[in-house]
Amino acid sequence: MTDPDLRAFALGLPKAELHLHLEGTLEPELMFALAGRNGIPLPYESAGAVRAAYDFTDLQSFLDLYYAGCAVLVTEQDFYDLTYAYLARMADEAVRHVEPFYDPQTHTARGVAFETATDGILRALEDGERDFGITSRLIMSFLRDLPAESAAATLEAARPYGARIAGVGLDSAEVGHPPEDFAAVYAVARQRGYRPVAHAGEEGPPAYITGALDALGAQRIDHGVRCLEDPALVARLVRDRVPLTVCPLSNVRLRVVDTLGAHPLRRLMDAGLLVTVNSDDPAYFGGYLTDNYLAAARELRLTREDLVRLAEASFEASFLSEHEKAARIAEVREYARS
Ligand code: HPA
Ligand code: ZN
Repeated sequence: MTDPDLRAFALGLPKAELHLHLEGTLEPELMFALAGRNGIPLPYESAGAVRAAYDFTDLQSFLDLYYAGCAVLVTEQDFYDLTYAYLARMADEAVRHVEPFYDPQTHTARGVAFETATDGILRALEDGERDFGITSRLIMSFLRDLPAESAAATLEAARPYGARIAGVGLDSAEVGHPPEDFAAVYAVARQRGYRPVAHAGEEGPPAYITGALDALGAQRIDHGVRCLEDPALVARLVRDRVPLTVCPLSNVRLRVVDTLGAHPLRRLMDAGLLVTVNSDDPAYFGGYLTDNYLAAARELRLTREDLVRLAEASFEASFLSEHEKAARIAEVREYARS
């Protein structure tokens, strides 16, 4: 298959995105627009200058700019615009379902109310379903480099929203912030019906993946690429069909791997793991969902069948009902046949 053919095939392939930080979709152009609207000074001359600053050496060097960029998000409309722009893009990539993260504490710490961020995001997700047919489950992520008490306060703030917030996640600086610190918060969250997921095994060791499963009851592991260092853990993840939400371009930009050609995606697939491909923070890492499928396909010689398997996995690993999963997977198979 020639490259343009593969691009068209991947673009039209029905798929879901399960590892996406809404704050990480803030394109420099929107950053400037919101800064102007809100009267917030930016330490950059232009959108090009912002992009030029995106040269990361590790997770923390990215997080510093990612949190700084959030300063322009002030009003409910800002969160709406951010989320709606992402969904509009995904509509052009045959994305049918998204389970995005947002980081409430990043905003409440700046004096932006939990409700301001949450209402804007939820309104955009509802409009996105109406306008593009993209369904969603929103996941609030706790910042693991803040105390567990702050996560617990966030969980309380979410109470009035009930099931409109579907899950809880754990992100930010991983090393030195093991999942066990959040066991009590996750126990309450699970008891209240939230689906538990957690970032683990991106920069942190395989023991953090085991900890996310055992201490947090995580039903899905975000990243998880370092599981390959522990064969017993891989066997467990395969046996229990625990999904991994892998982010190839992110892993290259944050130097989790040296090159895309050295990325473990194919090894994870070959091990029989339920692997999905995702974009993480596409405005910062140089590509949205289809770009991640295509870049991985090119560098790791994935076939059209491999891309179909990844798209099917994206629905299987989602929090859609079994009925909805089956319908979407049938749609993927139908597309692959045509
Ligand atoms: N890892 C941890 N925290 C994050 C990430 C990530 O990839 N993206 C946004 N917050
Ligand atoms: Zn992430």
